[in-house]
Amino acid sequence: MPPTQVRTVTLVTGSARGLGLAIARHLRDRGDCVHVCWRSENECAQALRDEFGERAHRADLLSPEDVEALVAGVTNAEGRIDHLVHAVGEYVSGPAAEASPEDLRRMWRSNTESAFLLMNATRSALRSARGRAVFFGCSGLEGFRARRITAIYASAKSALRTLVRAWALEEAPHGVTVNMVSPGHMPHDDAHPDTLDTDRLEKIPAGRPGTPDDIAQAVAHLCSTAAEYTTGTDLLVTGGWML
Ligand SMILES: NC(=O)c1ccc[n+]([C@@H]2O[C@H](COP(=O)([O-])OP(=O)(O)OC[C@H]3O[C@@H](n4cnc5c(N)ncnc54)[C@H](OP(=O)(O)O)[C@@H]3O)[C@@H](O)[C@H]2O)c1
Repeated sequence: MPPTQVRTVTLVTGSARGLGLAIARHLRDRGDCVHVCWRSENECAQALRDEFGERAHRADLLSPEDVEALVAGVTNAEGRIDHLVHAVGEYVSGPAAEASPEDLRRMWRSNTESAFLLMNATRSALRSARGRAVFFGCSGLEGFRARRITAIYASAKSALRTLVRAWALEEAPHGVTVNMVSPGHMPHDDAHPDTLDTDRLEKIPAGRPGTPDDIAQAVAHLCSTAAEYTTGTDLLVTGGWML
């Protein structure tokens, strides 16, 4: 009998809609055993449960207890986690001068602290699997561009970028790669209206906004054997926006 092939186990967060859902479907369709997660009880969550069955978990990823329970749920079911793709990250627009301390905390918790919790909870499984972790930034981090309307959000993403590079350094001796994908404008059914701002879309050098599938392809690359020597990078999927 031929040996049974072990399927790659991938946990995709933020996967009830938007980019996370596109990534989860893409990786599942290429053969990964994909676990997804949802937070709010709504139509998207119901559809996700219908599509992914027992591999759909409820978790608020700002809660350390929920994060631990999510990771335990996947490892108990599959015995391993090879890849983590963390697509959670709320967005707020507006000048820093008008932001409240609560706006700042919300962005840092959603974009930075949730990633910190997930990395801590999956580190041991990723090391055992010599796995991959992918986090989400935003366009403009590379050149540390200052922007009037995204100061608070980008400050949280910049902190996450620093963490991703540090994690890449720490995890490389364990065979784990840690990377960031930074989308440009990716309109989708539930995306923020800023992604549809025609003034900005006209300035995208590639001449079109991005699609969730553009992001899914980039994540799939970082989670493939072709990228096993790629770590600590911030992969811009922006069509040249903000260069
Ligand atoms: N779309 C773009 O143009 C764009 C551009 C640059 C960067 N990005 C980044 O790319 C990533 C994905 O973007 P997106 O547009 O797909 O985001 P999205 O439409 O806002 O979807 C985010 C998903 O994350 C979930 N989520 C949020 N907070 C959560 C929490 N505390 N616990 C568990 N789940 C939580 C949401 O669930 P609920 O249904 O419960 O809210 C939703 O399913 C984010 O990090 C974003 O910052 C996106």
